[in-house]
Amino acid sequence: MTQAAIVKKPVTKITFPHHDFLSIEDLNADDITALLDLAEHYVVQNRRKSQTTAMLRGIVVVNVFLENSTGTRLSFEMAAKRLGAEVLNLGVEGSSIYKGESFTDIIRTVGAMLPDLVVVRHKKNGAALEAARLLDCPVLSGGDGTREHPTQALADALTLRRHFGRLEGLKVAICGDIMHSRVAHSNITLLQKMGANVVCAGPQELLPALPCATSDMTEALKDADAVMALRIQKERMERTLSLTDAEYFHAFGIDEDKMKHASPAAVVLHPGPMNRGVEIDNALADDDRRSLIRTQIEMGVAVRMACLDLLTRNSRR
Ligand code: NCD
Repeated sequence: MTQAAIVKKPVTKITFPHHDFLSIEDLNADDITALLDLAEHYVVQNRRKSQTTAMLRGIVVVNVFLENSTGTRLSFEMAAKRLGAEVLNLGVEGSSIYKGESFTDIIRTVGAMLPDLVVVRHKKNGAALEAARLLDCPVLSGGDGTREHPTQALADALTLRRHFGRLEGLKVAICGDIMHSRVAHSNITLLQKMGANVVCAGPQELLPALPCATSDMTEALKDADAVMALRIQKERMERTLSLTDAEYFHAFGIDEDKMKHASPAAVVLHPGPMNRGVEIDNALADDDRRSLIRTQIEMGVAVRMACLDLLTRNSRR
């Protein structure tokens, strides 16, 4: 199905009645559809030769990334620049966090400079919400704690919607470290709101108590349309995993053998960063017939452009 068939509303008519975007929990299915529809417009724009617009000229976006990131930070920066915004980046290295400055004081300092929008990434649950309470401008979560990564969930949803033409009714198996993964949490919430059937699978010690969670990989992958592999978030664990990397790959890593349980046309996803040979097979990750991983990265820029566009509409009036 082509995207023209999915997106019905002109982009100027798309509404998003939120000041900040901190969590998929705050959105209903219409909000999610609005964001995905607008992102479609940016996918088309980004594939054109001259990709940059002046839409956000004069707008200053500050990326406060107090937890390491390669893909997400670059993606937010790319998105803002494609829309013509000025971008300032504050990373862990450049901040005074090592001098003992608190997160609250860092955010207050940023706020006193009157930015137009702030993106927050932090290891603490609720950090983006805390920033939103301190700032007058819109705040966008770039992933905080183990609970929220709303723009990654949108990127994954857009990737799936473009591939299958729908989200409703898809069976999506999310596999790996579900317990510590904000990507898993945001994806489960979004996909369930959009009518997909989500199953989470991984070792018992990495599974939260969710009705959709199982440690039986065969059951989880059975007839799945999409299989998402997630990294083991060692940096967030209190205890070391009881499995070695090799044991983990054998039991839970996504490879051709396990994909035989999925639907014959099933695709694989991974939000990155990937540990090849641990949660996903090396060749499968690069197999263009099965893997949508590169598309997820491309869609990430488009959904972040949509978020920046919608959240700055008031300040641009
Ligand atoms: C994830 C994150 O940081 O939550 N990556 C991302 O943003 N694309 C997943 C991870 O770190 O494993």
